[in-house]
Amino acid sequence: MASNPHFESYKKDVIKMNNAKRRTVIAGNWKMNFTPAEAVAFINEIKPMVEGKNNCDIIFCAPYVDIAPAMEAAKGSNIKIGAENVHFEEKGAYTGEVSAKMLTSMGVEYVIIGHSERRQYFAETDETVNKRTKAALAAGMKVILCLGEVKDERLNGITNEVVSMQTKLDLKDVTAEELKNVIIAYEPVWAIGTGLTATPEQADETCGVIRDTVASLYGRDAAEAMTIQYGGSMNDANAKELLDKVNVDGGLIGGASLVAAKFTAIVDAAQ
Ligand code: PGA
Repeated sequence: MASNPHFESYKKDVIKMNNAKRRTVIAGNWKMNFTPAEAVAFINEIKPMVEGKNNCDIIFCAPYVDIAPAMEAAKGSNIKIGAENVHFEEKGAYTGEVSAKMLTSMGVEYVIIGHSERRQYFAETDETVNKRTKAALAAGMKVILCLGEVKDERLNGITNEVVSMQTKLDLKDVTAEELKNVIIAYEPVWAIGTGLTATPEQADETCGVIRDTVASLYGRDAAEAMTIQYGGSMNDANAKELLDKVNVDGGLIGGASLVAAKFTAIVDAAQ
């Protein structure tokens, strides 16, 4: 079908209107990589590179021991430092865990919850992800909630059902007011750290399914206002075409968040 210039321009306006409703968020997930000194050196390196680039929020989620020094290094800049997980109990005998209050007392605003590595290697389930999400939100934190299908689920054609189910289970009993502090990161597990990236069309479609699920739970306006990121081998070369998609409002970036030039290029792609 020949494209109609009036329709194309209408489509662009609608896309712009939708995007204007929500904030683009480019978040790095450092995972278990930088020592505190390396984290500080990285922030000092990237700070001038992203200075003044305010069309998106820039966050690095860091291992607990890196948070305080990285925050100190990021002071006065447009970079925020978040955590990579949080426990659901307020306090007590939970060796090795960190509570939301411990994080908020340091001024930490953002936390990743439900990352596929937590689900795969640390036995996290939709139930524990939901508990952590509710605890973080109750403490006033902003949650980057990760979900996504594994390879077999994509190959078997059940991706939509899987992400829709995860969205419902992970957001169980989250109030409409709390939902305003939730970002969902759609991360197909087969694309994480593998160099395989979802095509922009796949990312857009699945983020759209997640948005529709949120709409079924909280209404269309809430769903349209929600930032939904794509994550999984996003890098300087593929970020632009992923971020250009209507339903993709940012990225959660692993490997490329450890290299200042690559991460900055992704920030630039979001400008
Ligand atoms: P990756 O990781 O960019 O290295 O694939 C993404 C993530 O795990 O959040």
